[in-house]
Amino acid sequence: MKFSRETCVALDLADPMAAFRTRFTLPADTLYLDGNSLGAMPANVPQRVMQAMTQEWAQGLIRSWNDAGWYPAPLRIGAKIAKLIGADADEVAVADSTSVNLFKVLVAACRMQQGKRGVILAERGNFPTDVYIASSAAEMTGRELRSVEPDEVLAALDDTVAVVSLTHVNYKTGQRYDMRAVTERAHAVGALVVWDLAHSAGAMPLGLNTCEVDFAVGCGYKYLNGGPGAPSFVFVARRHLPQVQQPLTGWLGHAEPFAFTHEFMPHAGIERMLAGTPPMLAMIALEAALEAFDGVDMQVLRDKSVALGNLFIDLFDQELAGMGCVLRSPRNADERGSQVSLGHAEGYAIMQALIARNIIGDFRAPDILRFGFTPLYLRYIDVWDTIAALKDIIASRAWDTPEFKAKKSVT
Ligand SMILES: Cc1ncc(COP(=O)(O)O)c(C=O)c1O
Repeated sequence: MKFSRETCVALDLADPMAAFRTRFTLPADTLYLDGNSLGAMPANVPQRVMQAMTQEWAQGLIRSWNDAGWYPAPLRIGAKIAKLIGADADEVAVADSTSVNLFKVLVAACRMQQGKRGVILAERGNFPTDVYIASSAAEMTGRELRSVEPDEVLAALDDTVAVVSLTHVNYKTGQRYDMRAVTERAHAVGALVVWDLAHSAGAMPLGLNTCEVDFAVGCGYKYLNGGPGAPSFVFVARRHLPQVQQPLTGWLGHAEPFAFTHEFMPHAGIERMLAGTPPMLAMIALEAALEAFDGVDMQVLRDKSVALGNLFIDLFDQELAGMGCVLRSPRNADERGSQVSLGHAEGYAIMQALIARNIIGDFRAPDILRFGFTPLYLRYIDVWDTIAALKDIIASRAWDTPEFKAKKSVT
């Protein structure tokens, strides 16, 4: 089938998710395909944060920890995220960054294995923070970090593995693991599993408990739209909580923080994953942002995500053939998250030229152009217009200027 812009207009008219776009504030002249990196701002957030500043902080002052619901926020927001990831309300807390939470759960998982098994198994090509944190956790718990290619993970799971630490959807390629199959195989050999859901939470239905996942962490600022540097979330399966000893034993993880005792005694619940005082304004922004998911059927959201990704790939085949671009994501949607990546030798400059036309994706070294599909606000015509602009930029060599080749600090 040959696609046209009209095909895409018709797809938008039939889109059951079209109305959710109004929940976001987006610049009128911009196409945003980078919600996999920093989600767009839900329209209700500024007013909620303003209220927190002018009333809860300015007027309520310290009383707001009790009176405005600040103190229970990490668990209250965790419970809202739990619904999106197939976990129970008391298994998820919001705190710190993804890197920090990853460190907590990896060390805790290694400690649960009591030094019996020597290996943390990880994926080569994972996001650097996952690799660096796993390396520290391995060193601190006397383990060896063993990294393998994604298609070698199942075979590498043997009885030497204490913990397997994987990102569900790869940040560069969008390749997605079969969470159930990997978790089952890990358990069959006695290993514990840590999933990084940075590129999954809010982008697809997830079933942490139906897959019997042990630990998970994820980002608040990507598909959850919580704002730049939004706090992260951490999941611990209820069955493990009594054994979990996370390394950052801060006062808010204590059984009774306000008893101010000298000895650390972990809280019985998911609270034990907390460390210090949460950044309340950022927590409040994230909580308000999650309202964008009210009434959203995550399967319908996934269906649209797949349709957008498939359309992008079909248009890549139709419009960009022979122009030096290669597809770097799986064609099979079952093996893909909510992004499609293209490789091109001049990828950096091409992305800069695209951004100069207000079409925003991003670049990952050495040559990857990344396009994220956020079904809550992306339209099918946005995919068409992005491919059309890419075609024009490549054909006209509009990217070939010193300005577009100059590297910025954040790519
Ligand atoms: C897989 C993955 N994990 C973690 C992070 C970020 O961690 P942090 O929020 O601690 O910077 C990212 C950021 O892009 C990521 O892609």
